[in-house]
Amino acid sequence: MGALSEGALGVWSTGSVGVARADPESMGAGGYMERYRTGLNGSRENGQGERPAGRRIGMAVVGLGGAVATTAVAGVELIKRGLIEKHGLPLAALDEDLVEDLAPYEGIVFGGWDLSGDDLASAASGHGVLDGERFEAAKPALSTIRPWPAFGNEEFCRKVSGDNVVAVSGNAEAVEKIREDLRRFGEENDLDGLVLVNLASTEKRTDSTLPVFATPEAFEEGIKADDPAVGPAMLYAYAAILEGVPYVNFTPSVGADVPALVKLAEEGGVPVAGKDGKTGQTMLKTALAPALKARALTVDSWFSANILGNRDGQALDDPDSLASKVETKGSVLDQILGYEVPNHVVRIDYYPPRGDNKEAWDNIDLVGFMGARMQLKINFLCGDSILAAPLAIELARLSDLAKRRGEGGVQEHLGMFFKAPMTKDLVSVPEHALHKQEENLVRWLSGESPNGSTNGHATAGHKAPTTREG
Ligand SMILES: NC(=O)c1ccc[n+]([C@@H]2O[C@H](COP(=O)([O-])OP(=O)(O)OC[C@H]3O[C@@H](n4cnc5c(N)ncnc54)[C@H](O)[C@@H]3O)[C@@H](O)[C@H]2O)c1
Repeated sequence: MGALSEGALGVWSTGSVGVARADPESMGAGGYMERYRTGLNGSRENGQGERPAGRRIGMAVVGLGGAVATTAVAGVELIKRGLIEKHGLPLAALDEDLVEDLAPYEGIVFGGWDLSGDDLASAASGHGVLDGERFEAAKPALSTIRPWPAFGNEEFCRKVSGDNVVAVSGNAEAVEKIREDLRRFGEENDLDGLVLVNLASTEKRTDSTLPVFATPEAFEEGIKADDPAVGPAMLYAYAAILEGVPYVNFTPSVGADVPALVKLAEEGGVPVAGKDGKTGQTMLKTALAPALKARALTVDSWFSANILGNRDGQALDDPDSLASKVETKGSVLDQILGYEVPNHVVRIDYYPPRGDNKEAWDNIDLVGFMGARMQLKINFLCGDSILAAPLAIELARLSDLAKRRGEGGVQEHLGMFFKAPMTKDLVSVPEHALHKQEENLVRWLSGESPNGSTNGHATAGHKAPTTREG
């Protein structure tokens, strides 16, 4: 049994951990990142007989019956059974030395809440993400997991409802019940660590500058008074932080990203990270924009369209939820390029026939040498949950390690996983360029301080270029 110690804050405390440092002598040629890559399965599956440590961590998921969550559960099950390789898991491609302190994929145990009480095999079958063979292999394990009754609020998410809900007298009781669920999950599964990951439907935008979010005291009063500005995502975040459980927000909803909860997380030594997983179109955008900048190709306009037909798309069919998503997707380009891109349009449309196979188009208008105009078109036919699930899994492992390293508060080095990375003060502009974010993560893994994970200001030192010659 892992060391579970009771305390006012931080029931889940596991002591410190040694930090593996990269040895510059042993680094080969190539860029900073290249020194760390060993191929998809690293050394642990290459016949050298090494096994990862036996750490067991719990992933308590809000939205456990959703497409991303059920894909994560199925993927880990197939890894446990040695049936799949580790494609799509970013940390599986890093050098063993860097990731040896992380809990192994095989050590992840899933539990969590959903408004739907369907077992995960039924839920996954409805999402249609897994093909026949993979679904059949994962089905026995999926069918044994049923989501715990959840805490919802239709005011915050109008398009998604369900009857697997807990009747509570108010928000204070909801927070208590979530804390009890976390404790029970840990005790029943003999866990060494626990992380709460929000994978629930997108909630409407919330004004995070309201006084109720300013201090822990104001927030606590707001909970007691059932302040209508406090949504379900915040209740789960608050409960996790009080319980000393690291919190990850993979959704655009407001979770721990208000001053009150960040302060509480810092004081309690609880890692928090978010928000909104950077999986498809925005991931490509933040990889491509630095290349265009490096060649001084001026981005005159950038039009991004998406169609998706899964339940996430249905949730986003509500204008209030859509506004949250468009906000997190919209802010990345200006920070990378150093100027405001005119006509940066992001559209997301619900189109049921597409299911979880999201399609994204980008049209980029560029200006090059002598004012010559060019266009770049991207068409990404992706698996929405196939891209997202591995990132959620990696975030759980990294947050567990951050907790053991005693790093409370906002985890800026996890920025590469998010469309709208949280910064420690919640107001500085984050780094969005994917390659820089990845370097920051590797530095953190190797025990160095992440470098420049916060940009601090979006446009200082840059002159807005003209888009036409003359
Ligand atoms: N590529 C991606 O798929 C991707 C990328 C970035 C972010 N996200 C975000 O991840 C989240 C999950 O996406 P998905 O495709 O799995 O959606 P989904 O609709 O399939 O799953 C969401 C689940 O959350 C449940 N839920 C809603 N409110 C809840 C509550 N208050 N408590 C407990 N459960 C609740 C729903 O019943 C549903 O089962 C969304 O917010 C989405 O925007 C997804």
